[in-house]
Amino acid sequence: MSANAKLAERSRLAIWHPCTQMKHHEALPPVPIRRAEGVWLIDFEGRRILDAIGSWWVNLLGHGHPRVSAAVRDQLDKLEHVMLAGLTHEPAVELAERLSKLAPPGLGHCSFGSDGASAVEIALKMSHQYWRNTGRPQTSGFVALENGYHGETLGALSVTDIALYRECYAPLLQVGARVPSPDWRLAQPGETPSGYASRCALALQACLERDAERTAALIVEPLVQCAGGMAMHHAEYLRRAREICDRHDVLLIADEIAVGFGRTGTLFACEQAGIAPDLLCLSKGITGGALPLSVVMATDRVYDAFYDDRVERGFLHSHSYSGNPLACRAALAVLDAIAEEGVLERNRETAAYLNRRAQGIRSRPGVLHFRNTGMIWAFDVDGAGPEFSRDFSRRAVDAGVLLRPLGSTVYWMPPYGIGRDESDFLVDAVERLLDSR
Ligand SMILES: Cc1ncc(COP(=O)(O)O)c(C=O)c1O
Repeated sequence: MSANAKLAERSRLAIWHPCTQMKHHEALPPVPIRRAEGVWLIDFEGRRILDAIGSWWVNLLGHGHPRVSAAVRDQLDKLEHVMLAGLTHEPAVELAERLSKLAPPGLGHCSFGSDGASAVEIALKMSHQYWRNTGRPQTSGFVALENGYHGETLGALSVTDIALYRECYAPLLQVGARVPSPDWRLAQPGETPSGYASRCALALQACLERDAERTAALIVEPLVQCAGGMAMHHAEYLRRAREICDRHDVLLIADEIAVGFGRTGTLFACEQAGIAPDLLCLSKGITGGALPLSVVMATDRVYDAFYDDRVERGFLHSHSYSGNPLACRAALAVLDAIAEEGVLERNRETAAYLNRRAQGIRSRPGVLHFRNTGMIWAFDVDGAGPEFSRDFSRRAVDAGVLLRPLGSTVYWMPPYGIGRDESDFLVDAVERLLDSR
């Protein structure tokens, strides 16, 4: 048995892998990875696989980015962890201060979590308690978008609209309102993405006209609903959503867990609409994929409603690893890299190059809705059956590329460090995979 096969078998027996029907691993074992560098994952036999999805969108800059690795190593020798209740430390303070300067205006208060879903839980609980603390305890519901995804914990799943993940747990979830997704693929023939976004905003307005009194917050994934099939929308929706929430006195939660830190072309997706949410959720790429970390950034308005002599009016939510110093140092190194290595400018060149190279895919029969926002590309495959995603992923790994279609949607969301040769390798592999369908 090869070293790869041995580890895959031990893994299959010992690990209950995330988001996986374990029985499928009988036919298609997990892919063992020994190490990684840049955009490449390397197995136990030296085979290289291009990580075209940044390992679930966390790997922002490339694996083993020297600046990030050095920062974590340095921090390890100083302070590996200390609780953030009653104590504090430089990396968390510096990160909170820097994020407040970089994020849309007014988000001056950072609360730390670990994974993305824990940030969403924080944002939902904060919104609920905000209204309770301000004398409106009945204002506790949430409005979310159709086809939205915010994570797998029960609160996050309550505002998620993907049946496969949600249905089994429905009895455990809070029932909330759903409004139409501004996904431009759903526009009428002849309707522009911005026109369709405005039409969806009218539906949001109608929803809040009915329900604002009971609605604590609207939660949105700005510009791209990633897990829902890389559904992209026009920034007009966000502008209108901000206006409508203001008009109806409903908080706006922007979940930039997947799209923050330059993924959509600007540091934060909300910038493209010129809006600031009341609560901003960040995670995934924040540490460049080095360590788990999430942050919820809140405005003075929200924060002030908790600031009181009475303990129970405070936000009594915690995670043991909140604001872990190693993770905060990784995040600071990511911010340094973005600022000092011209990452966003380089991404614009990379995106232009990948778009030119992918022209053949865009115009191919059977490829629908080829789309791109910043460093995210996606298209839908006409006639893809229920086995399409698994089959495509398997063949992609054989071709040396990590791709995991979402249903019939093939996408790539590579680390920003992807070079021209690697982009060529990726596009050529996707073309061959489509040829051999
Ligand atoms: C928009 C969004 N929110 C929340 C989450 C949940 O993050 P995590 O998987 O780190 O809990 C995800 C994960 O894909 C996401 O895309």
